[in-house]
Amino acid sequence: MKNIRKIIVKLEDRSYPIYIGKNILSDKSLLGKINVNNFALVTNKKIKSLHLSKIKNNSIKKNQIILSDGEKYKNQESISKIYSYLLKNKFSRDSCLVAFGGGVIGDMTGYASATYQRGINFIQIPTTLLSMVDSSVGGKTGINHPLGKNMIGAFHQPIAVIIDTEILKTLSKRQFNAGMAEVIKYGIIKDKNFFKWITKNCLNIKLQDPESIIKIIKRSCEIKAEIVSQDEEEKNIRALLNLGHTFGHAIENVLGYGKWLHGEAIACGFLIASSVAIQNKTMSINQYNDIKNLLEVFDLPTKLPKNINIENLFNAMLVDKKVKDNKMVYVLPNGIGDSYITNKISRKIVMKAFIQHA
Ligand code: GLY
Repeated sequence: MKNIRKIIVKLEDRSYPIYIGKNILSDKSLLGKINVNNFALVTNKKIKSLHLSKIKNNSIKKNQIILSDGEKYKNQESISKIYSYLLKNKFSRDSCLVAFGGGVIGDMTGYASATYQRGINFIQIPTTLLSMVDSSVGGKTGINHPLGKNMIGAFHQPIAVIIDTEILKTLSKRQFNAGMAEVIKYGIIKDKNFFKWITKNCLNIKLQDPESIIKIIKRSCEIKAEIVSQDEEEKNIRALLNLGHTFGHAIENVLGYGKWLHGEAIACGFLIASSVAIQNKTMSINQYNDIKNLLEVFDLPTKLPKNINIENLFNAMLVDKKVKDNKMVYVLPNGIGDSYITNKISRKIVMKAFIQHA
């Protein structure tokens, strides 16, 4: 297998590889060794027409479950469609689902795999930058409930993740930039040199220079794999991956899901978290500006949506999963390249950070 980068997510007997490369979906042998009775591919119409022909392994494409496209279909009804297909076609416990799509398809396929006949295998083939660097790795699976995003789910690790960078060519600029927010996140929370490298090479990244794209995906997946290996079920340090997410989810919720992309909302969330960190004396104004400048390069929002109600934002944060023992848990940057978790931030500090970004 030429030019394929491999990273292992180390989880003892559930360890699995992440393969990264250009045009790797055309490698018929890639999944040759997986001992599976039957594959069923889960995707949506758009991905099917754009990219299905890139997968050259016919056994993976033989059975197809086509779901509706978009976050509003990330629900129990879509999961039931997957179960019905599997049951009607007599899929047994040694079969395997293949998630071929962005975060919505990945999360739903993972959740169906976690629950069908008490758990079957699945493979992730992510098709957006955001799902390549974040949601396809680490085994968080789930669906939305009318009362909250991602409120129903399970930890269920895939048996492999296959990232073909060629797929990114059809991604819109807006979606690509939203994925860059998660890439920048890894630099802020864990790797100062990576943050510097992204800043220095931002134009090459914007132009999707193939080696730069491989580098940002590989380094992001390495950091995620390392964190997930240490804390699979988010008992402690995995929460660092939620930098900006508490604020970002609140923005998505108050604005109405779908108006801002998830990556856009968390980008604004990084800056709100950074303002809180400045008040908590763990970040300088210069570091804040370095983050803001880099987000601007990728056209990511650095202010809250116009006219958003700040009280509503604060209230929306309280229904997020980040409330523990009745106290809000925040992930904050400790400069650039390090981060920490705290529940000792007052409402006043957070409200000030919101106002600074209004
Ligand atoms: N997206 C954050 C995590 O996987 O933990």
